[in-house]
Amino acid sequence: MLQGITMNGKPLVYLDNGATTFKPQPVIDAVNYFYNNINSNIHRGDYEIAFKADQAYDHCRKTVAEFINCDEREVVFTYGATSALNTVAYGYARKNLKEGDVILLTRAEHASNALPWFRVAEETGAKIEYIELTPTGKMTLWNLRKAIHEGVRIVAIAAVTNVLGVKTPVREICRMAHKVGAVVMVDGAQSVPHTRTDVKDMDCDFLAFSGHKMCGPGGTGILYGKYELLEKMDPMLLGGGANARFDSKQNVILKEAPIMFEAGTPNIEGVLGLDAAIQYLMKLGMDNIESHEQELRDYLFAELAKLDNVTVYNPDGDSAIAAINVKGVFSQDAACYLASQGVAVRSGNHCAKMLVDVIGTNDTIRCSMYFYNDKADVDALIRALRTCTLENCVGVFF
Ligand code: ALA
Repeated sequence: MLQGITMNGKPLVYLDNGATTFKPQPVIDAVNYFYNNINSNIHRGDYEIAFKADQAYDHCRKTVAEFINCDEREVVFTYGATSALNTVAYGYARKNLKEGDVILLTRAEHASNALPWFRVAEETGAKIEYIELTPTGKMTLWNLRKAIHEGVRIVAIAAVTNVLGVKTPVREICRMAHKVGAVVMVDGAQSVPHTRTDVKDMDCDFLAFSGHKMCGPGGTGILYGKYELLEKMDPMLLGGGANARFDSKQNVILKEAPIMFEAGTPNIEGVLGLDAAIQYLMKLGMDNIESHEQELRDYLFAELAKLDNVTVYNPDGDSAIAAINVKGVFSQDAACYLASQGVAVRSGNHCAKMLVDVIGTNDTIRCSMYFYNDKADVDALIRALRTCTLENCVGVFF
């Protein structure tokens, strides 16, 4: 349980970590250090504090490379997972796809891993196809095998889905996709914060994730790309810092990847905070984080199963995320009631608007945990769910 924070006069039980996470002190200190001591732009200033800012910013690339096991040149700083995904859709897919090519998704994808591909399909004449999922959002190898064929050029897939917390067999997908010459874009927004990530072992071509879902500042994110692919991509943004030369005859020479993708002043203080966040996670140990969350997951699902007023949509989910509803209560009303009891969850469709085709509802309550949650948080949720009746919800509003 988070210490010292209250909501509606109750100790805060924060179960909306799929949306964003709290920041530990070292992250806040890193951001403050920048503002208090070395506030300057990067890669531009010829004075001491600017040099220190350069070093601190560039250091984060090393930290990320160690964290996901890649080369520093393969780490692009973005504003979040969304901008990382759009960068690939714009810079790689738009350039390389043609009419009839297939982009393979699932109906569990978040908007950020669906809409950029819809636009690519519209612009290039490529087709969107889907890997079928089971009613609890799982992907079977059988369905995967059926979906991957010679026409597939891109598979864009969440490693862990954001509503049901289902783990996708990413290594198998990469192996099968590469056999037919397709590239794999992994949306790691809900996986990278919670589990050890090794892009070499996974053999994905691209990986996107956000800083703010792993204790880092908002407005930070990472695009990993195999260098030979990054080299062939167009940047989505053009501007200062990312070009080597240009002249009045419109001759433009861009810098090499990854700098060519980082036009404009980046979120420098955010990147420093992200560095601190990743170091914090590495010190805790990603395996420790994962096993703690698995224990919480097991406890949460066992406790939910005892409630006869609750429907669970992902009883076989793989992560510390439960998608539920209180029978007879609209998800947003229930979320407001839970908030009145100090419990923060997210309600609605969670930006995964195609998932209704899989689970049959647009509206769920999502309870998503992180390493700082504990069994007392689960107990508080269960207590609040037990008393979450329509009548009590009405009491919150009137
Ligand atoms: N993508 C975030 C979520 O799933 C905001 O809640």
